[in-house]
Amino acid sequence: MAFETIVVETQGHVGLITLDRPESLNALNASLLGEMATALAKFEADETIGAIVITGSEKAFAAGADIKEMAERTYPGTMLDDFMGGPWEAVSRCRKPVIAAVAGYALGGGCEVALACDIIIAADTARFGLPEITLGVIPGAGGTQRLTRAVGKAKAMEMILSGRFMTAEEAERACLVSRVVPEGDLMDEVMSLAAKIADMSGVAVMVAKKTVERAHEASLSEGLEYERTAFYSLFSTEDQKEGMAAFVEKRKAQFRNR
Ligand code: CAA
Repeated sequence: MAFETIVVETQGHVGLITLDRPESLNALNASLLGEMATALAKFEADETIGAIVITGSEKAFAAGADIKEMAERTYPGTMLDDFMGGPWEAVSRCRKPVIAAVAGYALGGGCEVALACDIIIAADTARFGLPEITLGVIPGAGGTQRLTRAVGKAKAMEMILSGRFMTAEEAERACLVSRVVPEGDLMDEVMSLAAKIADMSGVAVMVAKKTVERAHEASLSEGLEYERTAFYSLFSTEDQKEGMAAFVEKRKAQFRNR
């Protein structure tokens, strides 16, 4: 399938989506969001794909929702379209692991797409921010909720109320990103992490992802109960037998997602 606003590639068992609207710093317009949702669904349905990476350019992961496209929107229109539903939720709906490789600006909706990913790896050039307040609005693609859960109320409030950007270093200290790497190493580091995840049992990875997500939704006792049930369920898989046999036999496990 031909895409106009993203580049879609497969490297081994990893699906790579590169946002590609350089003229607008990868601003997220309807075409790009639709294409990204299509590519994610395609990778999710592809049994050979075990992990997905979303990245942008050196200058911008994405500078937010497309302000020029959004400027004339009305309240009834946004309500009737459910403007922030549909493709905006494609990343959070994806059941396979999604890693954001962020260099340059990740602002507004761009920061929110990164926040919806399971892991964010940042180049040292990355800048994170939710500057919607400077446009007279607020984050609408999950930023008020996910940033607050990631970095806590005080820092989230400061960023959302003032529009201040965070450097990559500050984002790592605040636990917004899992790791900061030199810009030149970003894609090698992320693709190697994604390949490592894709090499694991796809069933165990999917169950692990769902279980970690529960930590944000459930009480501790409910989350622990969910984890225990999920753990038990994995003993019904061939991959569990293979993984443990391989350890005992001192060889690399060959998972078959069964
Ligand atoms: N939407 C549309 N176009 C955008 C854009 C956006 N979010 N961000 C940048 N662009 C365009 C600029 O208009 C400019 O286009 P022209 O050359 O045609 O004028 C081009 O990209 C390059 O941008 P700049 O000249 O501004 O580049 P810069 O290096 O001087 O500044 C920047 C970079 C700080 C990221 C600045 O572009 C900027 O502030 N962008 C907007 C950031 C923002 O407010 N994002 C939030 C959007 S609202 C949102 O996302 C809502 C939500 O919750 C989903």
